[in-house]
Amino acid sequence: MKANKSSQRDKWSSGFGFIMAAAGSAVGLGNLWKFPYMAGTNGGAVFLAAYIFFAAVLGVPILLTELAVGRNGGQNAVDSCRSIAPKWGFAGYFGIAGAFTVLSYYCVVGGWVMKYLASCISDNIPTAEYFAGYTTLTSEPMIWQLLFILVNSVIVLFGISGGIEKVSSVLLPLLIVFLMGIMIYVLGLPGASEGVSFFLLPGRSDLGFGDIIRICVRALGQVFFSLSLGMGTLITYGSYLDKKDDLQKSTVTIVAVDTLIAIICGLTVMPAVFSFGMEPDAGPGLIFSTLPAVFGRMSSGWLISSVFFLLVLFAAVTSAISLFEVIAAFMTEHKGMKRIWAVFIPALCVFALSIPAALSCGESGRCMVMGMAFFDFLVFLSDQIIMPLGGFFLCILAGYKWSREAAEAEISGNGQHRFPAAPIYFGIIRYAAPLLIVIVTVASFIS
Ligand code: PHE
Repeated sequence: MKANKSSQRDKWSSGFGFIMAAAGSAVGLGNLWKFPYMAGTNGGAVFLAAYIFFAAVLGVPILLTELAVGRNGGQNAVDSCRSIAPKWGFAGYFGIAGAFTVLSYYCVVGGWVMKYLASCISDNIPTAEYFAGYTTLTSEPMIWQLLFILVNSVIVLFGISGGIEKVSSVLLPLLIVFLMGIMIYVLGLPGASEGVSFFLLPGRSDLGFGDIIRICVRALGQVFFSLSLGMGTLITYGSYLDKKDDLQKSTVTIVAVDTLIAIICGLTVMPAVFSFGMEPDAGPGLIFSTLPAVFGRMSSGWLISSVFFLLVLFAAVTSAISLFEVIAAFMTEHKGMKRIWAVFIPALCVFALSIPAALSCGESGRCMVMGMAFFDFLVFLSDQIIMPLGGFFLCILAGYKWSREAAEAEISGNGQHRFPAAPIYFGIIRYAAPLLIVIVTVASFIS
């Protein structure tokens, strides 16, 4: 059953609002936590170069494709894919499945962030050891992750222009301003330059072929995650765009903002870690155990740490709401549900899935799947399977099932905006991107 046809749909109220929401979806835990750590442990500048290369060569065309497919369909991810080829709704289902998968662990981390924020504000900065103990607790983390889910659900309930756009238009600019402030403060600390070198200079000059491949595999995975690709997010956000909007300009802006913020995060986190002589490769614990220890030793550490965790929370919220919207749009339009149920029923399912995810954290040894903690299993499922497959099928759909004229007309807004890169774009979408995704996915399984 199809309800709410395009004519009654909500829309972004301004181009700026849309950019803030889409860039807000992209800028998330992937930038603040994963990127600095990944760069630091994967050859620094080499990782950064590979990241920028993949973001430009694959990120830009795939993101543009998602927006074009969404705006063309004017519906949720599944029906927008169907409007191009009736049998290709499954490409959109990757987004729905992916949204549930990512949200189920994202909200666990969102809960940790809220807890840390509350502790820092009350001048009780957690110690480095606190994280392992906290994540092994049973009930308290559940309460925080439920709170995180509720905050996001309420924002999504208010809709596109009244909820998601309003919140993102405030939070993302605030995040950028405060993050730059913290970066400037941190770069002035003694020994900060060592962190900058670790982040930006190749750790070893003797990187072999195998190392380069490994770095490329990780950089491409990071591009997909950080730009929210292959998950139906940008198809859904694109479906609320006006035909007048310039998709090419929006795409380049979103990719540029996300990449810039990732670099700023690297220039904030690594110098802070080095300045206090801590280890930069703590993985998931980096912002929850290493950084609080760093903040704890700073004068007015509570203030810096509170601002930092507030920023992490902003970033996590603007990303999580984009995932909730993928599901809500599908449930209202495809299943004919009222928005309130389309938001809260999935939220309840996400909470249910997040319980074993949270329980599996720490040293608990609880809730294992295929020899992995359930949390890691969800990460594996989304990063290694759903996102690359979602991206792959999207390229095939747009490259082979959509006529070139129709795709070009959508991207150029029926000729309103020149599309000089069209031949390169179609070359990438048809050949280079699917091939690279396959190679990288196979390589990641082998390694
Ligand atoms: N891009 C977000 C981040 O960097 C995560 C995300 C992935 C959000 C997929 C939506 C869809 O944290």
